[in-house]
Amino acid sequence: MEKQEIRTFGRRHGKKLSSRKQSLLANILPAISPKNAKNTGDLILEIGFGNGEHVRELAIRNPASIIIGAEPFMNGVAALLSAITSESDNQIIPEYKNIQIWPDDVRKLLHDSDIKFSEIWVLHPDPWPKARHEKRRLLNSDFLNLLGEHLTQNGQIIIGTDHWEYFDWIAEQNKKTALYALFPPLSTIHTRYQEKNMAGTIEPKYMILTKSIPNPEI
Ligand SMILES: C[S@@+](CC[C@H](N)C(=O)[O-])C[C@H]1O[C@@H](n2cnc3c(N)ncnc32)[C@H](O)[C@@H]1O
Repeated sequence: MEKQEIRTFGRRHGKKLSSRKQSLLANILPAISPKNAKNTGDLILEIGFGNGEHVRELAIRNPASIIIGAEPFMNGVAALLSAITSESDNQIIPEYKNIQIWPDDVRKLLHDSDIKFSEIWVLHPDPWPKARHEKRRLLNSDFLNLLGEHLTQNGQIIIGTDHWEYFDWIAEQNKKTALYALFPPLSTIHTRYQEKNMAGTIEPKYMILTKSIPNPEI
């Protein structure tokens, strides 16, 4: 990271991992790091993937693209590794061969590279609802600007959250950037946090941010 940035996530480690998951972290994870790959072609990023359900969905929906998932919570990383490898030989299942994992704060990946993404997904970012924690919210104007620098000219940042107050806050933060915002009716697969619906709202709200004037038909 460029400077000491405030931490936007909770714990990095949860309950003890099974020996299979420990072995996947040691042996498979380094081979699918975006730092070890020459990435050309279409790239899609998902930030804070939790257990990775939506990363897997993106991999299947976009077989010709590379999907990079960023998540500092190692139990989530291990859960995704477990879901994309075969139990018999611990090798990556063919339909998930386009997945790469960045097991850390996404800002470290973005500050150190000039990678450009056609899509950047952020589903259910930590809302940090207490006023004294607001500074921990990831999707502030500085971060949205950073995402804009890593977006292709026609790329899209897709943000979804069931925390409507955080949603409005992000829309306000975006007004301090040069990105255009659209608020289309969208839906995605139900991630773990969507299932939890800790905000207790009827449904998530979505916004799409773009660098170019948006096409109203999106
Ligand atoms: C509320 S969870 C949502 C997880 C998942 N997207 C879902 O919908 O189930 C937010 C996730 O964002 C991750 N996160 C927070 N700050 C992050 C950062 N700077 N870089 C990458 N991931 C981050 C957290 O570790 C956490 O797993």
